[in-house]
Amino acid sequence: MLVLDSGQDTSVIELKSSTRHEAPATSTHPMIVSLIAALSTNRVIGKNNDLPWRLPDDMKYFMQTTSRHTVIMGRKNYDSLLEKFRPLPNRVNIVVTRQKDFSAPGCAVVNSLEKGIELARAANEEEVFNIGGAEMFKLGIPFTQRMYLTEIQTELQGDTFFPEIDSSNWKEISRNHHAADERHAYSFDFVVYDRLR
Ligand SMILES: NC(=O)c1ccc[n+]([C@@H]2O[C@H](COP(=O)([O-])OP(=O)(O)OC[C@H]3O[C@@H](n4cnc5c(N)ncnc54)[C@H](OP(=O)(O)O)[C@@H]3O)[C@@H](O)[C@H]2O)c1
Repeated sequence: MLVLDSGQDTSVIELKSSTRHEAPATSTHPMIVSLIAALSTNRVIGKNNDLPWRLPDDMKYFMQTTSRHTVIMGRKNYDSLLEKFRPLPNRVNIVVTRQKDFSAPGCAVVNSLEKGIELARAANEEEVFNIGGAEMFKLGIPFTQRMYLTEIQTELQGDTFFPEIDSSNWKEISRNHHAADERHAYSFDFVVYDRLR
């Protein structure tokens, strides 16, 4: 767990670069790199910089799963959050942007996903979550050891997609079904996958 909080420095953080998968020399702490996403059967994750569904129990699952951890998000995902949810509460928020002077109050701002991961590792995080959007997921798959996917059982229209995954690299370790009901227009499964190789 990290000790940084919403009062942390919001300037662009320059960390010493290190190669993928490589922990800083001072870190003795293993850290899982995870991602968490919700997608339709045709892999849609977004539309018009928003989610194309309202599934309150999935939002609750997201908040519970990532609470007290570090979340890393792309700048467009950050922009899509309602101001009252920025930064996401009870977790360290890291925003990835190429902009040098991007301001995200209460968040750390970094210029690459790798720097965000290293920042979490250096602060002894146990599990860091890539929370999207599509550009962050695509960049992050090679570093990802665990995926929390909410598989929504419908086809939807959208403009942003979860990347194709080679299923032979992943093992399903849990699946919990949630039926459609008066609050949820679609049924969905909460699925966790661990990387095999
Ligand atoms: N269903 C889900 O689970 C889920 C989760 C999250 C988001 N979403 C949806 O996904 C959509 C947003 O996704 P998106 O793919 O458009 O955007 P995104 O991944 O959230 O953010 C893209 C931005 O990240 C920064 N970036 C990308 N690559 C970078 C790199 N190599 N180095 C430094 N910065 C980099 C750039 O910011 P700058 O332009 O500032 O440089 C880029 O514009 C929205 O519709 C959102 O609602 C869905």
